[in-house]
Amino acid sequence: MSLGWIAGPGTALHGELTIPGDKSISHRAIMLAAIADGTSRVSGFLEGEDTRATTRIFGQLGVAIESPSLSERIVHGVGLHGLTGSSEPLDCGNAGTGMRLLTGLLAGQGFASVLTGDASLSRRPMGRVIEPLARMGARIDSGTGGLPPLRIHANNNLQPIDYELPVTSAQVKSAVLLAGLYAQGDTIVREAHPTRDYTERMLAAFGWPIEFRPGFARLSGGHRLRATHIQVPADFSSAAFFLVAATLVPGSDLLLRRVGMNPRRTGLLRALRLMGADIVEENPGEQGGESVADLRVCYAPLHGIIVPEVLVPDMIDEFPALFVAAALADGETRITGAAELRVKETDRIAAMTAALQSLGADIAETPDGAIIRGGKLHGGTVDSRGDHRIAMSLAIAAQRASGEVRIGDCDNVATSFPGFVELAAAAGFGLRLA
Ligand code: S3P
Repeated sequence: MSLGWIAGPGTALHGELTIPGDKSISHRAIMLAAIADGTSRVSGFLEGEDTRATTRIFGQLGVAIESPSLSERIVHGVGLHGLTGSSEPLDCGNAGTGMRLLTGLLAGQGFASVLTGDASLSRRPMGRVIEPLARMGARIDSGTGGLPPLRIHANNNLQPIDYELPVTSAQVKSAVLLAGLYAQGDTIVREAHPTRDYTERMLAAFGWPIEFRPGFARLSGGHRLRATHIQVPADFSSAAFFLVAATLVPGSDLLLRRVGMNPRRTGLLRALRLMGADIVEENPGEQGGESVADLRVCYAPLHGIIVPEVLVPDMIDEFPALFVAAALADGETRITGAAELRVKETDRIAAMTAALQSLGADIAETPDGAIIRGGKLHGGTVDSRGDHRIAMSLAIAAQRASGEVRIGDCDNVATSFPGFVELAAAAGFGLRLA
């Protein structure tokens, strides 16, 4: 039986919270440390199912990885050409980032690999990475329609590529760049809408020559990665649930410590501020080459907005939480240009629309977004469809509902936010296991 929650109504949120490590950075830290020369340390590693799956996969590929304590990993890098093939499939679990980045990394190895995933990942499009990698000379077989499982053939002769991304996706950009490490000559990725640049920054931190700026990245094959220490900041996407919850529940005053503030991730902050939120950045600093800050968030009444499309890539994972903010704001919020939400862990437009409607919200979905008229929510039973971010967003909605909300299928919250229920309950959420 899958895990369910009983959520809300909540009380004011108070306290100082440390949110778990960034998922995107944790995946990349393990991947690059694995193919670096020497021993790297990863601190603040996300102990989520997604990032643990990536760690397990590198174990299968011959990389020794120790866990001296929670959120710490010591990775004994095997060098660019030191991975060894596995006769078993490599199970990425629920992780789109894991599968898409690994496809790029494994496309230029002298051994074949098979990548698999859970039911949700098995429905997610992989053609977007297969297409550019095939142009680089990779041979990758997929299920019908470019779906997993993927069989990546051995290839010691990848060609570089100058690639303009047809989809706004950091995962596709990263897959091409990681394959480019194994290609002779310049690999270039161009983006009309800049996405998170963690792969570029981390390659530089591991000493690989790379030129990058928003919308452009260029590297050439044939260099080496040098082991380093990566300090992973707190995940803005996980912090987002607390930013929205504290904004919505009267009397709240929360401090979130050392949150990653990469501008390609913090679009929600800008959207919430446009809606009237009271969120202040304190103690700005740097951690592992990323800007971080403490975020103080206090209750504030919100009003609806037209979400600027330019913010969409910078808040792509935060829309479920934004749907909740909009459903409880004064007036109408319009979301457009966000069709990518339909191919996330689940169709997030459909999932949030159905769940919030069943709690009494006034929402109409559109092909690439939604029109949400703010009002009141009541209790009820909703389905997270096995999507971690839908489950946590509905837990926030419940804090302002007039009755209890039962949320089904919450196991996958452990993919990105282990300990969410305990942390949220300690801050004042009405939230317990069903
Ligand atoms: C990620 C990129 C985004 C995001 C995902 C993590 C990454 O996906 O939604 O949670 O780490 O590169 P897309 O590249 O599909 O937009």
